[in-house]
Amino acid sequence: MTVLPSSSLQAAAPWLRADWRPDSGQVLAVRGGRPLEGVYPISGAKNAILPLMISALLTPHLVTLRNVPASLDVAVLSALLRRLGTEMHWSMTASGLSVTLSADRLQPGSIDGELVSRMRASVLLLGALLARCGEARLPMPGGDAIGLRGIDFHLAGLRAMGAEIELASGLIEARAPQGLTGAEILLPLPSVGATENLMLAAVAASGTTVIRNAAREPEIVDLAHCLGAMGAKIVGAGSHVLTIEGGAALTGAVHDVVPDRIELGTLACVAAVTDGEILLRHGRAAHLGAALSAFQAAGVDLCEEADGLRARRAPGGLAGIDVVTQPYPGFATDLQAPTMALLTLAKGASAITETLFEQRFLHVGELRRMGADIAVHGRTARVRGVAGLHGATVACTDVRAAAALVIAGLAADGETVLTGLDHLDRGYDRIVDKLAACGADIVRR
Ligand code: EPU
Repeated sequence: MTVLPSSSLQAAAPWLRADWRPDSGQVLAVRGGRPLEGVYPISGAKNAILPLMISALLTPHLVTLRNVPASLDVAVLSALLRRLGTEMHWSMTASGLSVTLSADRLQPGSIDGELVSRMRASVLLLGALLARCGEARLPMPGGDAIGLRGIDFHLAGLRAMGAEIELASGLIEARAPQGLTGAEILLPLPSVGATENLMLAAVAASGTTVIRNAAREPEIVDLAHCLGAMGAKIVGAGSHVLTIEGGAALTGAVHDVVPDRIELGTLACVAAVTDGEILLRHGRAAHLGAALSAFQAAGVDLCEEADGLRARRAPGGLAGIDVVTQPYPGFATDLQAPTMALLTLAKGASAITETLFEQRFLHVGELRRMGADIAVHGRTARVRGVAGLHGATVACTDVRAAAALVIAGLAADGETVLTGLDHLDRGYDRIVDKLAACGADIVRR
């Protein structure tokens, strides 16, 4: 393994510096109209890395994660884990960013409310801390304001495993003085976070846990692989029924984070909307689920190659499609906003129905400012393709809304200025540098 100099590490992950603070005053200026071409390396998945880092709390041994995305969410979780006594060693190699976590001296006490309020995935600390320490005290988690985002499934599942949980004054206090025990759990919906939380708890519980109606996302399978490498016994990852035999003593592990299927889908939209051609290195077509055929119907050509997917606009141009978001392998809600940006420029009309989150159309108003023709009726947005978008000053309201505005900006005439960049940086690893390397006129200022 070649370890690159610390200057490369700082460039890839500037938030590792003790004095680093997000620059909330920055904006992103995008000048559209250039076809993007070249190679765009797809990073480790934003939604896989957080549970993976938290899984390291289950063992006193070293867990090394490779292909870590250098995103703001990772920075926030790192700060949280450090305060819980986890040591982290970062390195940059030719194949990407790696971190080795050591939770040898884990202290369940001090969890920072401000940090928790910035990240939904912090709720996964509940399962891991209960499993390892028998107690957890956590402020209610935050995250993107895209819907109600309850945690009732998480709490009901942990209670079924014997945890005593109280909610008071915005705090979750959980205890399992006798340890957790395996249980039969039926999730009302295949919730990604609840499945992950219960997996983390179940590997340390005594006895067998069965999670029915479990989420099937590639990030769940990735977590199961990592836990398996640590010695956990998990059967059924990727199906609706997960069976976990708890109680094995967990060892350390080395694990490569699965490539980010949402970054892949986002960049496929970029290639098609700018009429360019991008090799999305490391991208896996199978992980797109229903989005693969939806993209093809919309005129986004995706061709598998040895080291990724080549994305370009189909010769017949972009065409309107109907999309309904569903849990995996259905059309991903996280691709709803990027796809909407693409469809604003497609021939004909599209209907996009969001079934997972109640408030995930906040990008609609911003896309309209750029000339898009979109009307929202309840949970469905009707998009009529227009001949062109124009630059405007627009605000990012959540991670995927930010990605949609970048896509629109790259296609629009003139300059688009994006504010609220924290949202973009939470989920996309070095997106500005990677787009610029494909020829985008994009700069932070
Ligand atoms: N839900 C409940 N109660 C619960 C748990 C979920 O009512 O206890 C509801 C939610 O309110 C939502 C639905 O169930 O309406 C699905 O939520 P889920 O739990 O599956 O989502 P999540 O775990 O909060 C993760 C991703 C999201 C992604 C969703 C769906 C992470 C950190 N977040 O959220 O990613 O949209 O799964 O795939 O993994 C993003 O990346 O932009 C993002 C928001």
